[in-house]
Amino acid sequence: RVLRDFLCLDDFENRARRHLPRPLFGYIAGASERNSSLRMNEEAFQKYAFKPRVLRDVSARSTETTLFGKTYAAPFGIAPMGISALMAYRGDLVLAEGAAQAGIPMIMSGSSLIPLEDVAAASPDAWFQAYLPGEPDRIDALVDRVAAAGYETLLLTVDTATLANRENNIRAGFSTPLRPSIRLAWQGISHPRWTIGTFIRTIVRHGIPHFENSYATRGAPIIASNVMRDFGKRDHLNWTHLERIRRRWKGKLVVKGIMHPDDAALAAETGADGIIVSNHGGRQLDGTAAPLRVLPDIAGRVSIPVMIDGGVRRGTDVLKALALGASFVFVGRPFLYAAAVAGLPGVRRCAEILRSETDRDMALMGIASLSQLAEEGLIDG
Ligand code: FNR
Repeated sequence: RVLRDFLCLDDFENRARRHLPRPLFGYIAGASERNSSLRMNEEAFQKYAFKPRVLRDVSARSTETTLFGKTYAAPFGIAPMGISALMAYRGDLVLAEGAAQAGIPMIMSGSSLIPLEDVAAASPDAWFQAYLPGEPDRIDALVDRVAAAGYETLLLTVDTATLANRENNIRAGFSTPLRPSIRLAWQGISHPRWTIGTFIRTIVRHGIPHFENSYATRGAPIIASNVMRDFGKRDHLNWTHLERIRRRWKGKLVVKGIMHPDDAALAAETGADGIIVSNHGGRQLDGTAAPLRVLPDIAGRVSIPVMIDGGVRRGTDVLKALALGASFVFVGRPFLYAAAVAGLPGVRRCAEILRSETDRDMALMGIASLSQLAEEGLIDG
């Protein structure tokens, strides 16, 4: 009943703004420095326009898409997002199960508060995203652990040589560890649904959440020590580490955070099965181009699947990305807002809104199959 209030993906953000304590909402919504990449990501979609075809029978259309040998209900999935379980009760599991029920892939973040084994057990189709240190023995240990958990797709995020300047987090009062303060206590009191439904419920049932930083079996408690400490220690990670991972990991390997065609070519040469063109939702180097803008060049350069994320909010955005050469798209923030404000039904609803928009837009474009988006002349810009 309540779910009917959500008519488009942005509606989840508006609800989450009221539901979540300000520091947590700010952590999700924000980006880095001037937020210019964040803005560019969404604006990039407005620079392209459709030239739809008409009077073509589109009654038998389908949004189904095959990627790495699996057929999904729609050409999009859920991007990896860290510390989701602070935003929504058992957030990573809610996202994984919601995605499984909607027939789309979900990528489990390597900076989670829930062990990667728990998510794999709940949703065998989830992918795993790793932040890797440059130490070979730690790389091997994590790769083996991810394989043992049953994941089939490993994704390495490579746009985090160091942590970006996220001054908005400081202004909004967000930090890891969460520092107890009068301000934070007031945020808790003034957002009782989150405080009781997510925070207290988690602690009562599962104890204080521990941070999983991809290579520790169990990280530090989120309210006691600095969980981001290791985040900025990957500045020595390089292509030889990717080669090492490729040799050790038998499943599908995806590299996320590629923005330059030469890097796309290097990733393909190193044996990656796919790449995600991404500027981390504008959260790393501010001023990085919108992924949509560099997509055509990159898709023209490599023959492995090229995926994209950043700013996808509408079915028309999905179709534009596919028309410009993407094999698949990922969506971040809206799904986390949906999990925070409406749990599992919220995640399903979010997926269904985007799927049905995509389906309707296909009809209006005059295509029955997504592969027709490759046709010449359907998009301008
Ligand atoms: C992220 N992102 C991210 N990426 C990643 O590889 N590992 C991670 O742990 C996280 N954590 C994370 C947390 C939060 C709160 C957000 C919003 C984002 C980036 C994410 O996977 C994706 O690239 C962007 O969110 C996509 O942009 P949109 O759809 O949010 O505009």
